[in-house]
Amino acid sequence: MSTAQSGTPRPAFGSAVEDEERVELLPPGAVVDLAAARRESGIDDVLERLDTELVGLAPVKTRIAEVAALLLVDRVRERYGIVATRPTLHMCFTGNPGTGKTTVALRMADLLHRLGYVRRGHLVSVTRDDLVGEYVGHTAPKTKDVIKRAMGGVLFIDEAYYLYKVENDRDYGSESIEILLQVMESNRDDLVVILAGYADRMDTFFAANPGMQSRIAHHVTFPDFTVTELEQIAVGMTGELSYGLSDQARVVLREYLERRVGQPWFANARSVRNAMERARLRQARRLVARADPMVDLAALTTIEPEDLLASRVFGDDAAGKTVRSG
Ligand SMILES: Nc1ncnc2c1ncn2[C@@H]1O[C@H](COP(=O)(O)OP(=O)(O)OP(=O)(O)O)[C@@H](O)[C@H]1O
Ligand SMILES: [Mg+2]
Repeated sequence: MSTAQSGTPRPAFGSAVEDEERVELLPPGAVVDLAAARRESGIDDVLERLDTELVGLAPVKTRIAEVAALLLVDRVRERYGIVATRPTLHMCFTGNPGTGKTTVALRMADLLHRLGYVRRGHLVSVTRDDLVGEYVGHTAPKTKDVIKRAMGGVLFIDEAYYLYKVENDRDYGSESIEILLQVMESNRDDLVVILAGYADRMDTFFAANPGMQSRIAHHVTFPDFTVTELEQIAVGMTGELSYGLSDQARVVLREYLERRVGQPWFANARSVRNAMERARLRQARRLVARADPMVDLAALTTIEPEDLLASRVFGDDAAGKTVRSG
């Protein structure tokens, strides 16, 4: 299990209770500047960073902007004294490995916090092993402990379908699901649950757990990245580490990605990250092994074609064979 704190804690409007104490209700004739409310909340900052720092993911970005708008409008309605149940925000993120589900969940936590939906805005990321025990009486305390830690933030359950074993309905996973269902209903103003995993397995999971399906308000689909997007991601990642690719290396990178996407164990942006890490390793090895030991800044910061060409992806026997790493 991992916990991550996202962004700076900056509640937009405080909790509903605090608002009631601090802010007088607006009369029906009053007019509110939504743009100003937006600015004050800091959501533009999160949405802008989402847009510039994350490549592609257009449908995901649109959904997040929609959720942000919904919460903003909800908060402004509250200022007129409109009392309605808060919108349900439990979500399901489906997509192949490395499509950005965890990364986006982290930003979602930040956004929900800025909009005052959750108190803390942290993300607790878990899998079945963190929730389900191995003997009678073990599961409930484990699940409750995780929920307690996630309160005030986002509980991200990766590969959520492993909680339910079709072949064994007496599996302890069912107990964990029952507890989660209760909490998702009764604590939905201070805990957002995000289930993540492959689309087809998630569908099977929901079919077997209609209670879970009915509590999920937003289904967000993470598409695979195109080769051009993967290239942009690679360039961004190397840049973050103060490396650059020479012009020839850019050509090789493109070729590398075109081959890699069709090979087994391809995991989108995650594979790109791994590939760039290996290129960095080869670059270092190349520099250290050089006959001329003198290096300059350009040499230290440039990835050259050979740093990528040494990959097994380019091996003569790569096509058609299992390539576990790039
Ligand atoms: N749109 C993007 N732009 C740039 N980098 C990205 C993008 N999406 C993901 N990454 C990077 O790719 C890596 C994998 O992303 P992440 O872990 O969020 O994917 P995931 O869908 O949760 O994968 P998995 O299914 O394997 O858990 C991370 O290092 C992340 O920073
Ligand atoms: Mg992930």
